[in-house]
Amino acid sequence: MKKLEELTHLLSNELSFIDLPASPSNLYDPLRYFLTLGGKRIRPILTLLGAELFNAKADKAIPAALAVEVFHNFTLIHDDIMDEAPLRRNKATVHHKWNQNIAILSGDVLFVKAYQLIAKQDPKHLPDLIQLFNKTAIEVCEGQQMDMDFESREDVSIAEYIEMIRLKTSVLLGCALELGAIVANASENDRKHLYDFGQHIGIAFQIQDDILDLYADPEKFGKQVGGDVIANKKTLLNIKGFSLANEEQKTELKNLYNSSDFNHKVARTRELYILVGARTSCEEEMQKHYSQAMKALAEISVDEGRKSDLIQLADSLMVRIS
Ligand code: IPE
Ligand code: IPE
Ligand code: MG
Ligand code: MG
Ligand code: MG
Repeated sequence: MKKLEELTHLLSNELSFIDLPASPSNLYDPLRYFLTLGGKRIRPILTLLGAELFNAKADKAIPAALAVEVFHNFTLIHDDIMDEAPLRRNKATVHHKWNQNIAILSGDVLFVKAYQLIAKQDPKHLPDLIQLFNKTAIEVCEGQQMDMDFESREDVSIAEYIEMIRLKTSVLLGCALELGAIVANASENDRKHLYDFGQHIGIAFQIQDDILDLYADPEKFGKQVGGDVIANKKTLLNIKGFSLANEEQKTELKNLYNSSDFNHKVARTRELYILVGARTSCEEEMQKHYSQAMKALAEISVDEGRKSDLIQLADSLMVRIS
């Protein structure tokens, strides 16, 4: 685990060097605040490991790695507005600490910063890097829109849910890895398998996030526990919860949708999903995608020994608490 800790530290350090002017302070203070809050730095680590997998030095992919993390932070600032989230990384969200307009605008700056960073990569790689980055950024927006659209629907299927989380979350993990592979001049085929590995890890990661949103220790999670239930998000827990519930439990779950007693709504939904077996079923689905990720990784034409850091990182994500 030492290697991954070192990379997290290196990346957090690099992020603190990103040049942000002093003024206007209401634009840049939120970014200084947000970028130093911590975070697991999973995506930029994936970029560096993606490059190392194909024998490039991690250093070569640092601008692309930072671009991915900066883009991720932009999506979090805007996501917290959309989700009306009060807490992020154990601190007040930007729109709570400042206001919504500031959160929109400072998020926008971060989005542009991501492009400034990626543009520092070797020009010979830029067409491929930018094409992938552009495609991913649009897909994330599509996933976020589906996520919001689903809040007011009650007939979301598992396939629709998986597509929604593939777009809002997984494509960025796949992209992060593939950016590293591009920098390392990996073959098209290897790039594709690595991207698939990222997609499945990403799906498992988001299912885990949905479980943690309801069952995590609030101190460790760093986000409001129960936020998804309060917003009637169509998480896998929710979809499985309804499909496994009996008629009486279904009625109770439906009534909870409209409850304004949020403490009761969250506590009872939490109990019901366990009672009907939804939590266990979600964990099984998560494992399924973890296994598919490992299959994709096995297809990559490098020595198995070179894959151990990626496997270690993937394993750590399956048991995360924050
Ligand atoms: C949060 O991502 C958004 C999701 C896709 C669930 P992370 O859990 O990677 O957030 P940080 O960067 O570590 O805070
Ligand atoms: C967020 O999904 C995905 C993106 C930020 C694009 P969530 O809304 O579940 O993420 P958290 O739980 O707020 O981190
Ligand atoms: Mg969201
Ligand atoms: Mg959110
Ligand atoms: Mg979440």
